[in-house]
Amino acid sequence: MTQPLKLAVFGNPIAHSISPLVHGIFAQQTGIAVDYGRIKVEGDFAAAAQAFFNAGGVGCNVTVPCKPDAYDLVDCCTPSAQLARVVNTIKVKTDDQGKRTLLGDNTDGRGLLTDLQRLGAPLAGASILIIGAGGATRGIVPPLLAPELGVTAITIVNRTVSKAQAIVQDMAELKAQLGATTTLRACSFDELKAQRPSPRFAVLLNATSLSLKGELPDLADEIYRHAACAYDLFYTPQGRTIFTEHCTALGIPAVYDGLGMLVGQAALSFALWTGVMPDVGAALAQVRAQLGK
Ligand code: ATR
Repeated sequence: MTQPLKLAVFGNPIAHSISPLVHGIFAQQTGIAVDYGRIKVEGDFAAAAQAFFNAGGVGCNVTVPCKPDAYDLVDCCTPSAQLARVVNTIKVKTDDQGKRTLLGDNTDGRGLLTDLQRLGAPLAGASILIIGAGGATRGIVPPLLAPELGVTAITIVNRTVSKAQAIVQDMAELKAQLGATTTLRACSFDELKAQRPSPRFAVLLNATSLSLKGELPDLADEIYRHAACAYDLFYTPQGRTIFTEHCTALGIPAVYDGLGMLVGQAALSFALWTGVMPDVGAALAQVRAQLGK
């Protein structure tokens, strides 16, 4: 009998990670056996990861706060990880001589895009507001710049505006490479508030960690009232966050939490390790049902 693939998610905190549940569902769906654990990183991420690979680990996911450390650790990167400069997936590659190299990927952005498309979010011709400029935003901007999506403009608003500006600068080369016509700009919450008339965004993406703390971003009500779709990258078992509740209360017709993105990015990681892409929609329904129990 073939051994199950030894996989894990690294982070801190990690006890409540649902990645083992999600990958267990993919394993059932595809018939590929996996042994997927959780590893709490209290010290050096690189040492913890190398110990896991020495013990037979063939890949891992990486979550907060270890994603930048994972980028530093890997030997080579996919274009997504290179652009994001954070890694959420590592695949171990071993050559004929037994030499190990570590490939880093960032599946967050493609996971979000797949979910937005599955949900029918109005991206073509849209002006998008991304709230937050941390690692998550670095991952999600590149796929949204793909010319075939036809996104008109992306504004990144952040408490620390220099971080939003740095992302805009870092994406300039990619925009040129892609021939993207999307306008990409950075601003502060105060600048957004001061604009008259209030700017209109069809899609709001909350990529801050505020929902985790039960707080809302400091946006004028008009911003919510004019939006057609809102998505919180944070998720809860019930599918509601403080941000999604607020968006619904202010009348946004299509409002989602980030569970679909979580399952989407996990599916892309699973595909990188196994070569088989799980059915995201079916897995998401199963995950939601299990979490609701
Ligand atoms: P991740 O990797 O999940 O993106 P992160 O890099 O820590 O996590 O980013 C968290 C994001 O939430 C940042 O945009 C952060 O704003 P700053 O860059 O100014 O720190 C945002 N955030 C966290 N707490 C916030 C708060 N109280 N008000 C506004 N933004 C906040």
